[in-house]
Amino acid sequence: MIAIQSLSKRYDNDQYGLNDVSLAIDQGEFVFLVGPSGSGKTTLFNVLHGRECPSAGRAQVLAYELTRLRVDQLPILRRDVGMIFQDYKLLPRRTVYENIAFVLQVLHYKRRRIHQLVHQVLDLVGLTNKAHAYPRALSGGEQQRICIARAIVHQPRILLADEPTGNLDPDTAWDIMQLLGKINQRKTTIIVATHDWRIVNKMRRRVVRLMNGTVMSDTIMGHYA
Ligand SMILES: Nc1ncnc2c1ncn2[C@@H]1O[C@H](COP(=O)(O)OP(=O)(O)O)[C@@H](O)[C@H]1O
Ligand SMILES: [Mg+2]
Repeated sequence: MIAIQSLSKRYDNDQYGLNDVSLAIDQGEFVFLVGPSGSGKTTLFNVLHGRECPSAGRAQVLAYELTRLRVDQLPILRRDVGMIFQDYKLLPRRTVYENIAFVLQVLHYKRRRIHQLVHQVLDLVGLTNKAHAYPRALSGGEQQRICIARAIVHQPRILLADEPTGNLDPDTAWDIMQLLGKINQRKTTIIVATHDWRIVNKMRRRVVRLMNGTVMSDTIMGHYA
């Protein structure tokens, strides 16, 4: 599903975001991507989401070879790859419903289908009663749930979550991680970048550790100390 070989990303200032990374992730996996700030987690996500072009190596995501991705293929890639950001990036003047529906409008879904999918996903994240609220009226945890809803409403096969619990208290963070686990059970492949070693150690999933843009370890049911 994701096959990365000797992938490097060098920025214009000669800084390496990724340096010779090789990694294979199967359909339906749940993987933690850990490592200190500046180790390349966001860079890897940006490459997988088609926001940054790799400098060397190969990166196959589903049917797409990212080193040869054309600009007109980006929307198609992003239909299959959803991304959640640490800062919520919700549209402040749109309601929760509108924030989520927007994704489907861009993809030209029909009104009735939009209504159906948005309500399904709000039910999944447990926020049906907030459909007509504005983002500023929601707690941090609720805003992150809406971001998750928005990232999966079009049913992508891969979900990338970049430090999704970075701004949340431990209990709320744990709830969000449980929600990601539930989404994973619906066969969505999930990669979560995080510093939160408590959550990583509690979840006992695969852990890929980055350091200076390089994979230092990759363990099944891993620990992060
Ligand atoms: N747009 C950019 N331009 C130049 N260097 C960058 C850019 N983005 C990230 N970097 C560098 O790439 C390295 C990896 O950064 P990043 O992927 O953001 O790490 P992480 O998400 O693990 O904190 C860092 O050394 C960072 O300074
Ligand atoms: Mg980052």
